[in-house]
Amino acid sequence: MNPPRTPRASRCVMSEIVLPNDTNAHGTMFGGRLLSLMDKCAAICAMRHAGLVCVTMAIDSVEFRSPLFLGEVVIIEAWVNRTFNSSLEVELSVESENLDRKDRRECNHAYFTFVALDDEGRPTAVQPIHPETELEKERYEKAAMRRELRLHLKGRITLADTVYLKDDLIATISGRDL
Ligand SMILES: CC(C)(COP(=O)(O)OP(=O)(O)OC[C@H]1O[C@@H](n2cnc3c(N)ncnc32)[C@H](O)[C@@H]1OP(=O)(O)O)[C@@H](O)C(=O)NCCC(=O)NCCS
Repeated sequence: MNPPRTPRASRCVMSEIVLPNDTNAHGTMFGGRLLSLMDKCAAICAMRHAGLVCVTMAIDSVEFRSPLFLGEVVIIEAWVNRTFNSSLEVELSVESENLDRKDRRECNHAYFTFVALDDEGRPTAVQPIHPETELEKERYEKAAMRRELRLHLKGRITLADTVYLKDDLIATISGRDL
């Protein structure tokens, strides 16, 4: 029997130096170039977990909070928070490393949803993930609510069909902590 798959087992870390081709006229990295690297890192992570081809289904709203400058190193880290049926949520963190100053700062953070495909290119079941640490367990719990929010915003499910999202909204409205 295969051992349970943990977030640690499929974690993916990528580093890339920001070169002139990656930057705009201000010498900072194009957002689209960064998104492309993030998508690649997240896809490796999803496929490492699933052992199947996985395609990007959705990217939650992304903010570019801090620019990446020419010559800096972009460090992207991706891990699986939770699997559902055919889909899985991958979380990413992006840091920039300035090699001269020897410092790092957080630039970006995002959630990507991937869908695992069978040989015919149809969505297929993906094996569950087993969170180990307290942080991984917390991420696992919250991923279910985010999935419902995504599907609700796209009109794929009604609020009445949600479980985790409804609980969260009720808790927020009533000022309680869950
Ligand atoms: C991925 C693809 C095969 C899914 O086909 P589909 O008919 O939408 O399949 P389904 O309706 O069964 O949805 C598949 C999964 O995606 C999830 N999903 C659908 N829309 C979603 C959204 N907006 N956000 C999050 N998850 C979503 C569904 O809940 C389902 O997950 P589950 O099985 O875990 O419940 C199809 O949409 C596709 O080929 N998309 C292009 C993918 C691609 O090329 N990406 C790269 C960018 S070009």
